[in-house]
Amino acid sequence: MSNIVLVSGANQGIGYEIAKQLSQMSDYHVFLGSRDLDKGKTAATQIQEIGGSVEAIQLDVTDRKSLSAVRQYIETKFERLDVLVSNAAILLDPKVSPEYSLGQATQDTFATNTSGAADLAGEFVPLLKRSRLPRMVFVSSGYASLHFFANFTPSYTTAKFFTPAYACSKAALNMLMLHYNVQYGNKGWKINACCPGFTKTNFSNHDEQAGPAQESAQIAVKLATLNEDGETGTFVNTKGQIAW
Ligand SMILES: NC(=O)c1ccc[n+]([C@@H]2O[C@H](COP(=O)([O-])OP(=O)(O)OC[C@H]3O[C@@H](n4cnc5c(N)ncnc54)[C@H](OP(=O)(O)O)[C@@H]3O)[C@@H](O)[C@H]2O)c1
Repeated sequence: MSNIVLVSGANQGIGYEIAKQLSQMSDYHVFLGSRDLDKGKTAATQIQEIGGSVEAIQLDVTDRKSLSAVRQYIETKFERLDVLVSNAAILLDPKVSPEYSLGQATQDTFATNTSGAADLAGEFVPLLKRSRLPRMVFVSSGYASLHFFANFTPSYTTAKFFTPAYACSKAALNMLMLHYNVQYGNKGWKINACCPGFTKTNFSNHDEQAGPAQESAQIAVKLATLNEDGETGTFVNTKGQIAW
């Protein structure tokens, strides 16, 4: 088995599609991270039925014990990790109210999207170091782009873009990615962030204007399967570079 992969938040949505597509490639075995193990098992079974090499594993990025248990399990079984896809995220801005402040929402959002992603990455760096070609994929968002908001022109629904807690958490996630790239990019690691695009998932309340998760997963799958010549330290979508 030449590529061992871990995807966080893979029981549904884009993470599920990333796990599905990678697990159907020859030489890829995927650990499908899910904070609810039963949901993860259901998702993994669906993928196994179509031939994917996948297994569910309980993983909550806000729980250090959970991260440590996953690391120990993968280390015991394979000794290393080749690809880490940091996908799990939450969007709390729509819940902001007089009772639930934006500051609290920001703190709670960061706990998953940024600190959780940082702890996930930190936990698995030792196993990635044992890979022939370590790859880290941070599923970010176009909302992380300072350039986009600095040059904002009102679009069909401006309210949709008032997501400061989420946007700040993803901008910080991009900085986390860049820091890992400074540390390991010059050692042959492939460390990148991507925006999957507006996607029909729970995240977007299955918005009719959003695209299918099958297509949105493709950019993360591409970054997860880069070879030695692949790029590192980029922030991309399917069209190319996204302005920082
Ligand atoms: N959908 C879009 O339009 C869009 C656009 C740009 C970027 N993105 C990004 O794409 C990624 C996937 O989003 P999605 O649309 O697929 O959302 P989704 O369907 O809501 O899936 C999010 C996943 O993250 C998991 N998760 C949440 N908190 C977690 C935690 N503490 N530990 C582990 N897993 C946790 C969820 O688990 P549960 O099932 O247990 O809740 C779920 O599996 C996110 O990083 C998001 O920011 C999405």
